[in-house]
Amino acid sequence: MKGYRVAIVGATGMVGKTFLRVLEERDFPVGELYLLASERSEGKTLTFKGKEYVVERLTENSFDRGLDIALFSAGGDTSRKFAPIAAAKGVVVVDNSSAWRMEKDVPLVVPEVNPGDIEKHKGIIANPNCSTTQAVVALKPLQDRYGIKRVVFSTYQAVSGSGYKGVKDLNDGLLGKGPALYPHPIVNNCLPHIDVFLDNGYTKEEMKMIDETRKILGDETLRITATTVRVPVERSHSESINVELKKPFQIKDLKELLKSSPGIKLLDDPCSNLYPLATVAADTDLVYVGRVRRDESIENGVNLWVVADNVRKGAATNAVQIAELVIGKEQK
Ligand code: A2P
Repeated sequence: MKGYRVAIVGATGMVGKTFLRVLEERDFPVGELYLLASERSEGKTLTFKGKEYVVERLTENSFDRGLDIALFSAGGDTSRKFAPIAAAKGVVVVDNSSAWRMEKDVPLVVPEVNPGDIEKHKGIIANPNCSTTQAVVALKPLQDRYGIKRVVFSTYQAVSGSGYKGVKDLNDGLLGKGPALYPHPIVNNCLPHIDVFLDNGYTKEEMKMIDETRKILGDETLRITATTVRVPVERSHSESINVELKKPFQIKDLKELLKSSPGIKLLDDPCSNLYPLATVAADTDLVYVGRVRRDESIENGVNLWVVADNVRKGAATNAVQIAELVIGKEQK
């Protein structure tokens, strides 16, 4: 397979560095690699496959070198400005920010769920919000087999979802220091506040989960509500997902279905204390599902506990999987 010319925008960030690890681990055919970040990082070096690369400052000319693919994770403002510049120069952008996700012409892709949507891209492909990605991997098989009427998300999200600054708030808090990023101490607290509050009383994170899930599952009428909560965990988001299905089901069949679905590992033997944990998911690429049980308060209801590494499957790995689809590389 030919070597592709790849740029990483936001290479010095938590997701950017994980892009490098995941590209290396999955043996993505990188021919040339360019690392871009803000002027603060100009001249720093990062290692890929044992070789050192110098970080360059991102400018409007950064894409003038026949690049094939650019993986972006440098925040919404940077993506809004630079992704169209890259796309206009023939680069396929896989963007991890929320800037382009809900645009009509931009596919929002989780390779286990809607790989075909990639065909419609016009230069930019969006990577979903981390909490949405793991949720739709678990929901897709249920949607296909039973149909979904309504979903209730309650999340328990790791501080690494806020990048290095979130992890610093947790570590500083453990040393007794006050928060610099979050509005309250994250140690000993669960903050029902991720991203900004909107006029309808929801946070932007909650609305991202609702809107993005509908787009990825291709059902704009799906009834969904969400409460997203930041918890004092460094890595991996945990989610309680309550689903009302259209058709009746046997719990045994539903577990078998989840067990055999792509990207999922069923961990569900509560009598042996076996259920998905943040520490088990950390540093892996799978979506762990457990505590699968009937919601006895409604007809055809089921409860799931879904955990995944937010920096890997929730961001870097999913973006690299999208890049693999773009170049036609077989998914591992
Ligand atoms: P830098 O390290 O130079 O600030 P995180 O989400 O972990 O905070 O990482 C954000 C990433 O986005 C970093 O690589 C950061 O670079 C990069 N970044 C932030 N703002 C810009 C910008 N205006 N131009 C280019 N890269 C940026």
